[in-house]
Amino acid sequence: MVSGTATPEARSTAPALRFITCGSVDDGKSTLIGRLLYESRLVYDDHLESLGVDSQRFGTRGAEPDYALLVDGLAAEREQGITIDVAYRYFATSARNYVVADTPGHEQYTRNMVTGASNADVAVVLVDARKGVLVQTRRHSFLVSLLGIRHVVLVVNKMDLVDFSEPAFQAIVRSYRQFADTLGFRSVVAIPACAVRGDNVTRASDSMPWYHGPSMMEYLDALQLAPSDETAGFAMPVQWVNRPNADFRGYAGRIVAGWVRKGDAVKVLPSGRESIVDRIVVKDGDPEEAGAGESVTLTLRDALDVSRGDVLCRRDATIECAAQFEATVVWMHDEPLLQGREYLFRQASRTVLATVAPVKYRINVNTLEQQPAERLELNDIGVVELSLDQAVAFTPYASNRDLGGFILIDRLSGATVGAGLLHFALRRSQNIRWQAIDVDRHVRAAQKGQKGCVIWMTGLSGAGKSTIANLVDRGLVAAGRHSYVLDGDNVRHGLNKDLGFTAQDRVENIRRVAEVAALMADAGLVTIVSFISPFEAERRMARALVPPGTFIEVHVDTPLRVAEARDVKGLYAKARRGALTNFTGIDSPYEAPKAPEIHLDTTVLTAEGAAERIIGYLLEAGIIGSLDGRPEPGKAGPPPTVP
Ligand code: ADX
Repeated sequence: MVSGTATPEARSTAPALRFITCGSVDDGKSTLIGRLLYESRLVYDDHLESLGVDSQRFGTRGAEPDYALLVDGLAAEREQGITIDVAYRYFATSARNYVVADTPGHEQYTRNMVTGASNADVAVVLVDARKGVLVQTRRHSFLVSLLGIRHVVLVVNKMDLVDFSEPAFQAIVRSYRQFADTLGFRSVVAIPACAVRGDNVTRASDSMPWYHGPSMMEYLDALQLAPSDETAGFAMPVQWVNRPNADFRGYAGRIVAGWVRKGDAVKVLPSGRESIVDRIVVKDGDPEEAGAGESVTLTLRDALDVSRGDVLCRRDATIECAAQFEATVVWMHDEPLLQGREYLFRQASRTVLATVAPVKYRINVNTLEQQPAERLELNDIGVVELSLDQAVAFTPYASNRDLGGFILIDRLSGATVGAGLLHFALRRSQNIRWQAIDVDRHVRAAQKGQKGCVIWMTGLSGAGKSTIANLVDRGLVAAGRHSYVLDGDNVRHGLNKDLGFTAQDRVENIRRVAEVAALMADAGLVTIVSFISPFEAERRMARALVPPGTFIEVHVDTPLRVAEARDVKGLYAKARRGALTNFTGIDSPYEAPKAPEIHLDTTVLTAEGAAERIIGYLLEAGIIGSLDGRPEPGKAGPPPTVP
């Protein structure tokens, strides 16, 4: 950490140049970096010794050391002959310090490439002189431009294998420039090289007298980056509220933009509360000021309510808060991004829930054309609209990578499934306000002598959901209760008649019925939902729409072979014949609930017995009073009071 007395000028000279290497498999990235490390003499001796041994065992270059082995750390990678993770390497020349992210070229490892590019200043894009510009070259260059890298060094490697031919080099450069010209780079410099021999990597090559430019390292040593904008407003996402005792309350985080000084007027977003910076605390003291890239703890004069994920910024900053955005998403998961499904959205240090709707288009990375799409598959890059369940402070990614970048996380597995860049807030949500309605669910519950709830019945087609739902409904109504059945087949005749049975349509089917069920429960009804609802993620979403304790998940558990043997509607036979596709249990998955409130094994229970179990649960949970035919106003909720 930089001490408090350093001036902004002194500090700005310190940072290393960060670059990534990218390209296709076998373009020679690891060899190139290995060569840099070797020649910059920062490779540790013990590492070099083991290189000798490893080269004999795994190397692909006979008796010479295989420089790729210097960077491919993991044994598994060596055996596969590809790099599978981002490896950061540190080295220095007499001119400057470097951090290089070696990113994999294997197509499915876009994720690592995005990670490596999101904090780099320069991209070294390698192409094999024999192969020229490939799909991955374009994909990586596009990602690099998306992620805000403005300088590209195109290294045309393996020039020895094309006899150091200038025309071969020029043809590749032309084809690359044609593509890259549309990507908004500030500089694209092309260098012919042979990493294995070292030509034009750290020093000039005798084999290409026609080339008069610098070697790659000479170029990087001399490259001037635009200095970071010191007039940019201060911003720091709060990572941690540090309260060791009652006397100290500090907000810890990394400054992502601008400078902060003691006494500065700041505000907290999204709340908008204002205060003055009292102290800036770092490990070795209390500096007067701190700037972008530094990790600090700030204390404020006033005791404000600040929590993790809030953003501290200058009082006059124009950082916006919003909950709906247009964004670019890079999808990194085998399972596609589905419109309507909820994902965790993490930006700076805040995590909220996000739904994508709609996917606006996919980008063809070869032609940069926009193509219509309903979902994003592995490695797709698309532009989507995102809705968050809470407003977050943000700037467009183009203005600040930390406040405008985000990742999407699968709620069930916790895996990072996508990465994205915020473009701008969508205005439409700003004109819509939540309207308060005086008669709330407590009043309605008291009036009806029951609590509104959702009985969510899930199970295979033909499991017996509708039959049981019907019996529960009849039982409740006969006893003077208020209930309603939402049945999959019925709702698909009206509200959801535009939907089919793809995973995408099922997500939307459940989203709509979950919203309707939540409204009905709010109105005080015992709402019985009878839908296959095959996906755990959407059942979880439905649960979250109603107050705790009022969502009763019922697994109508009928094994596939039993449901298929019954085949009341003849649909299983059709599906087996191939006359019906995406049929649950046959060629579309069913994710059984892991911990439903009620589990009904229909191989041992009758439909009547199953209905009794559900009604028994409602009684026990205090959702309905005893079934003597009369509602019991006092039992199910507070007395009716209309405010
Ligand atoms: S869900 O999966 O989206 O929840 P939903 O409960 O609405 O399904 O509809 C299921 C009903 O649609 C089934 O009971 C069956 O009658 C009918 N159906 C028609 N095609 C299919 C299919 N491919 N998969 C499942 N059910 C189907």
